[in-house]
Amino acid sequence: MNEIFENIITRRSVRAFNQEKKVEKNTLEDIVTAGMFAPTARNRQLTQFTVVAREDLIQKLAKAIANALNLNSDYDFYKPTAIILTSCPNDSKFIKEDTSCALQNMFLYAHSIGIGSVWINQPVVCCNDPGVRKILTELGVPENHNLGGMMALGYPNQDLSERDLTRRTKAVYHL
Ligand SMILES: Cc1cc2nc3c(=O)[nH]c(=O)nc-3n(C[C@H](O)[C@H](O)[C@H](O)COP(=O)(O)O)c2cc1C
Repeated sequence: MNEIFENIITRRSVRAFNQEKKVEKNTLEDIVTAGMFAPTARNRQLTQFTVVAREDLIQKLAKAIANALNLNSDYDFYKPTAIILTSCPNDSKFIKEDTSCALQNMFLYAHSIGIGSVWINQPVVCCNDPGVRKILTELGVPENHNLGGMMALGYPNQDLSERDLTRRTKAVYHL
């Protein structure tokens, strides 16, 4: 099987991470580069990638989000060893499209090198809550940016050998 095709069909969301093994800086940079080479509407390349690998900052953001959305106080993004926030100027018409393409590139590249990841959507829905925005600002997300999606990542701490290779999704062909 073509290895890119195999990588695509074997990727799964990972929600348990090895706390002892951090993702190296150059690996994080490569994952971001994979995101940067995703297609963007009109090739405008407006997305900022904000990478956080400090546990205290990751959990500070999780707590602010839990506060904003009334989630349980143990909300922790599944304790990833890094997160990558994607954001675009809030007047961009293609935030979702641009950041989703970038995130998928990053999920797939991460999977290809043995790193697990999952999309976390709660930061997107409350990025303009004052408590959340304050932390986003501390992290360097521009004030005029909205979040498009967040990737939580790390070395997996879950068994990925059993994968459902069937799909409910439909395709219609006229060949
Ligand atoms: C737009 C979007 C939002 C998502 N938000 C979350 C989330 O907040 N938390 C989570 O655990 N997974 C989230 N996911 C992951 C999906 O639950 C997951 O992709 C889906 O169940 C299919 O599983 P798979 O990724 O293992 O193929 C999200 C996925 C997408 C595309």
